Amino acid sequence: MGEALIDSYGRTVRDLRISVTDRCNFRCQYCMPEEGMVWLPRTDILTFEEIERVARVCVERFGVDSIRLTGGEPTVRAHLPTLVAKLAALRVGGGADGVGDGREDRREDGRGVDLAMTTNGASLRLMARDLYDAGLRRLNISCDSLQRERFLAITKRDALESVLDGIDAAVAAGFDPVKLNCVLMRGINDDEIVDFARFGRERGVRVRFIEFMPLDASDQWSANRVVPGAEIVAAIDAVYPLVAVEGRGSQPAQRYRYRDGEGEIGVIASVSAPFCGACDRIRLTAEGQLRNCLFAVDETDLRPLLRGGGGDEDLAAAIVANVGRKWAGHSINKVTFIRPARSMSQIGG
Ligand code: 5AD
Ligand code: SF4
Repeated sequence: MGEALIDSYGRTVRDLRISVTDRCNFRCQYCMPEEGMVWLPRTDILTFEEIERVARVCVERFGVDSIRLTGGEPTVRAHLPTLVAKLAALRVGGGADGVGDGREDRREDGRGVDLAMTTNGASLRLMARDLYDAGLRRLNISCDSLQRERFLAITKRDALESVLDGIDAAVAAGFDPVKLNCVLMRGINDDEIVDFARFGRERGVRVRFIEFMPLDASDQWSANRVVPGAEIVAAIDAVYPLVAVEGRGSQPAQRYRYRDGEGEIGVIASVSAPFCGACDRIRLTAEGQLRNCLFAVDETDLRPLLRGGGGDEDLAAAIVANVGRKWAGHSINKVTFIRPARSMSQIGG
């Protein structure tokens, strides 16, 4: 049995989310203000070698076996396939013994990490194949409206067509599964729930409906803008009957299969039904801050270690200490909730 990252509530960290840039070519209203984003200076951003080093400690020493690249928009970072290739070369070591956690099948030696990315999809037409060839295997593409005008209103970019092309390019390049992330906001796109379900069925992509979370930069969030997961499931079930998939594990999405066998959907009810009890994630921001929760208010700055001659032992100790402070869960629904000072684009979804 190797070393594992286990927090004080007994949850084992297995998933590392790496933000490779805080920049983005979209301005989604639930994430960034239309103007006035201040980007990190380039020298503050971790190099690929620095990212690889943190990932190596997590993967080889602590048995983290899944990595997701995020942003900002990850594809705006130059030479992204080079980073993908470095991460694809890591081999999982350490970790818990896996007995009884339902993941025994993933415990053979010498395996690589499960490599995924969340993207707005606009550049995939050009990049999907290079990313696949470098070793990326799973993609989540964000798309919040299938109507051109509304897509423009939400993202401030007239880019629906390039995103739809990107989805096709991802499927053609061999990504499996391709998932579509759709953030629903009351009064903005909640009339498209069934349209999205139909789109997913027709294109062979899994749509994941995400409840709007208080992580936007311009403070538009309020509880009455959240479309509860139960309402989403009911709306789709009325047209395309659904059945819940058992065995959710640490997945944030509750999955539902179509009774007629035409694929599935997922519902990420972060607000109405938090899944913090099964959380297995930590996050690395573009400038090297380690965060143990999307909503964390305290971070560990790894850059002084990376740039000041710290060894892997020092990095490992800093990671263990950060994970040890992970809280039981967020408190969005309580008066004690403190909004993180960062927006989603600065944290990495
Ligand atoms: N609430 C819910 N989801 C969000 N995302 C970005 N901001 C928010 C928010 N405030 C989603 C994006 C993307 C993923 C990285 O996070 O749509 O799919
Ligand atoms: Fe960009 Fe993603 Fe934020 Fe939209 S949600 S502005 S695509 S980082």
